[in-house]
Formats: sequence, structure tokens, C-alpha cells
Amino acid sequence: MATDRKLLGEATTSLKEHQQRVAQRKSLLNAKLKSCLSGKSRIVLEIGCGHGHWLTDFAAANKEVLCVGIDLIGNRIERANRKASRVGLDNVHFLKAEANEFLDQLPVGLGIELVFILFPDPWPKKRHWKNRIMNTGFLDKLSDRCLEGTRLHFRTDHRDYFDWAANAVAFAGKWNLLSDAPWLFERETVFQSKADSYQSLIVEKRKI
Ligand SMILES: C[S@@+](CC[C@H](N)C(=O)[O-])C[C@H]1O[C@@H](n2cnc3c(N)ncnc32)[C@H](O)[C@@H]1O
Repeated sequence: MATDRKLLGEATTSLKEHQQRVAQRKSLLNAKLKSCLSGKSRIVLEIGCGHGHWLTDFAAANKEVLCVGIDLIGNRIERANRKASRVGLDNVHFLKAEANEFLDQLPVGLGIELVFILFPDPWPKKRHWKNRIMNTGFLDKLSDRCLEGTRLHFRTDHRDYFDWAANAVAFAGKWNLLSDAPWLFERETVFQSKADSYQSLIVEKRKI
């Protein structure tokens, strides 16, 4: 009995600590987003930008748009920001953020005009499929923050994940598949350069 109470106490403490860490992370992200996006009404978003090569090139070629790249891994983001400032770009920000948390903290009134998800982690094992970013819940949530007509460009070298993503899009119901749309801004990403082949999917946010 005493051992059970001790274990329960420890579990409660670690849950509380976890919740505090999450709350701290979210408020930090919220503050960062406010400082770099204040007064802006639209962004181009790359989810899982890695070291930021692709988005840096995109931002350099499209100086009139504001670009945001997010990734879970801090040192990739640091490298990406160094690269962008070396090139002298002021229309791209790289932030350490998880995609769902990013959407939750995105300032109200700001819309996403274009999305890229390039070679996301494929999570090949069935028990890990729940971690795949291209899932119905996420696609619904993303659509809620996108402007009308926003296009999502998805590319992967994992055949199963491609089929999974196409199903998720169809099931989500908020996106139209564009079978003939041209791929916008063709540049090799780091993972693309290692892939033997890949498949691409372009979808557009449905009119409400
Ligand atoms: C396989 S790498 C691809 C990197 C880059 N797009 C490329 O093509 O070279 C996938 C990246 O997505 C990031 N990532 C995975 N899940 C994420 C999430 N939920 N939110 C933000 N980034 C995520 C990983 O940290 C990793 O850097």
C-alpha cells in the first residue's frame, strides 16, 4: 500500500513536471512568433525543414513573401538561421517547433498561403504510424490555418507513406487533390539527394 502511494506520488510529480515543460515551451514559442510575425498577415511554411537549405533558396528567390521553417531539432534550426543570415535574408525565420504546437501558437489573423512537407520521417513500422505527420487530424488542423486556395506540396521516397498520405488527404475532406499541378520551386533537399526515387502530391484547400 505504502509502495503504491509512493509510486502514484512519483507519477503525479513527473506528470506535473512534464506539463510545466510543455507550457514553458509553448509560451516561449508564442513569444517568438509574436516577435517575428507581428503585423504580418500571411506566411509560407515548411514543416520539417531540417538544415533549411531548401527554404533558404526558396526565400532568396521569392523576396516578396515571408517564409517560416520549423523543425523539432534545435541544432538544425541554428544551422538554418546561420545560413539565412549569411546570405542576408530578412524574409525567412527558422524556429524550433513541433508542427501541431506551432499551429496552436500561430497568431490569430495570420494565414498560411503555401505549405511544403518534404521527405518527412516515414515511420515505417506499423506501431509508429501514429507519428506520421500526414494524418487526418493534422490535415484538418492545418487547413483551418490556411488561406482559401492554399496548396500543400508533399514529397516522399517512401511508397507506403505516399499511399498513406493520399488516403489521409481523401479522408480529411478539406483538401482537393490536384493531379496536374506543377511542382512549385524545384530544388533538391538533403533527403531528396539521397533518394533513388520519390513521389509528390499537391493538394489545395477546399473552398468552404
Ligand atoms: C527526414 S528529415 C527531412 C528534412 C528535409 N525536409 C529534407 O528533405 O532534407 C525530416 C525532418 O522533419 C523533422 N520533424 C519530424 N517531425 C516533426 C514535427 N512533428 N514537427 C516539426 N518537424 C518535424 C525532423 O526533425 C527532421 O529534421
